[in-house]
Amino acid sequence: IDIKTLRGATGGVVTIDPGYKNTGSCQSAITFLNGEEGVLRYRGYSIEELAEKADFLEVAYLLIFGELPTKVQLDKFYNDILDEAIVDDDIKKIIDAFPKNAHPMGVLSSLTSALTAFNPSSVNVDSEEEMYNAIVKIMGKFPVLVAWTMRKKQGMPLHYGSRKLGYVENVLTMMFQKPNDEYEINPIVKDALDKLLILHADHEQNCSTSTVRIVGSSHAGLFASLSAGISALWGPLHGGANQAVLEMLEGIKADGGDTKKYMAKAKDKSDPFRLMGFGHRVYKNFDPRAKIIKVAADEVLADLGVNDPVLDIAKGLEQEALSDQYFVDRKLYPNVDFYSGIIYRAMGIPVEMFTVMFALGRLPGWIAQWREMRLRKEPIGRPRQIYTGENYRPFVKLEDR
Ligand code: ACO
Repeated sequence: IDIKTLRGATGGVVTIDPGYKNTGSCQSAITFLNGEEGVLRYRGYSIEELAEKADFLEVAYLLIFGELPTKVQLDKFYNDILDEAIVDDDIKKIIDAFPKNAHPMGVLSSLTSALTAFNPSSVNVDSEEEMYNAIVKIMGKFPVLVAWTMRKKQGMPLHYGSRKLGYVENVLTMMFQKPNDEYEINPIVKDALDKLLILHADHEQNCSTSTVRIVGSSHAGLFASLSAGISALWGPLHGGANQAVLEMLEGIKADGGDTKKYMAKAKDKSDPFRLMGFGHRVYKNFDPRAKIIKVAADEVLADLGVNDPVLDIAKGLEQEALSDQYFVDRKLYPNVDFYSGIIYRAMGIPVEMFTVMFALGRLPGWIAQWREMRLRKEPIGRPRQIYTGENYRPFVKLEDR
């Protein structure tokens, strides 16, 4: 039924669905999600198989272009990305202008938006070729911004990676290589980061992705749309949860490690405290990504010889929640962010950078969704409302109020 017929048939009735709990905003062929059964697939491939067998760049290609790449396609994609893996020198001045204690998500969002000024050709993209050029530009420049955001915070000189390295290896090198130091990539760390980025790469119409699509639907440029998505991801109810989880676990540890006390707080409706990393709008079963990350966290910590007491607190909370009636009734299970921070920390990534790492993983998903929206020529996103304000009131002059 088309919208004109519907309007005619309903007399212009507007449906109201706060939080869009039951409202589809688009048709999409990218990610399949069954929250009741805990199933997640990218372009039909299961997240479990992709996390085990693919690397992040292959998954990025799959999400954006719809098929797993051949070797030739993947090589071309990566070479095109590497050709764009530099940013204008003036970006360094912008980074320098931020205070050292600025939150990296605010810095990343601003820098991504600022890229438009240096790459104006990325804005008016109507053909597939123009879209492709904008896509490889941002796939190349984004990891540089991610790494530099961290290095600026740590007072380290800014650093480019190397054409000889793969995408994820370059991310690690750009983040961690110290001046005059031979940085050796630990294969366990590289594999874990590949997995984490793959698991975060897309999740259908979540808050940040919907933001990217709706901003892009006005034909604002790709980088501006992504910048808006980064801001949406920042919030603790969305991507910011990974930072919030670790801070919560640290808080519990500092308070003596009494998980029962915090379980009680989470259930107390007069207390705003929520168990961060638990619950999901769509999953009413185990988040399949959390299952994979939990195993990866064990492996990374064991391989790196890290003994992290917050992992024990996390496991304790999970056990209690799984048998607690409040959590069982509301189907609140650990989500993707519950264990990811523990891995990031073991890798030496500062807590404030966790959501930035999520953004790096989500980049191909946002791009894929933006490209799909543009190729389908979707109309501008423009929800309606039900007005609840005052009726007509005559204006009262300042001196008469
Ligand atoms: N701790 C305690 N109670 C919770 C939690 C939690 N983490 N999450 C939900 N609940 C309760 C609510 O209080 C509510 O209880 P009620 O029915 O008695 O009022 C019920 O479960 C339903 O919760 P809603 O907030 O209505 O669920 P919604 O789908 O709107 O929210 C959300 C989902 C935002 C993820 C929520 O579960 C939450 O705040 N979790 C903690 C933050 C978090 O981990 N976010 C990351 C999400 S994953 C991601 O974005 C990558």
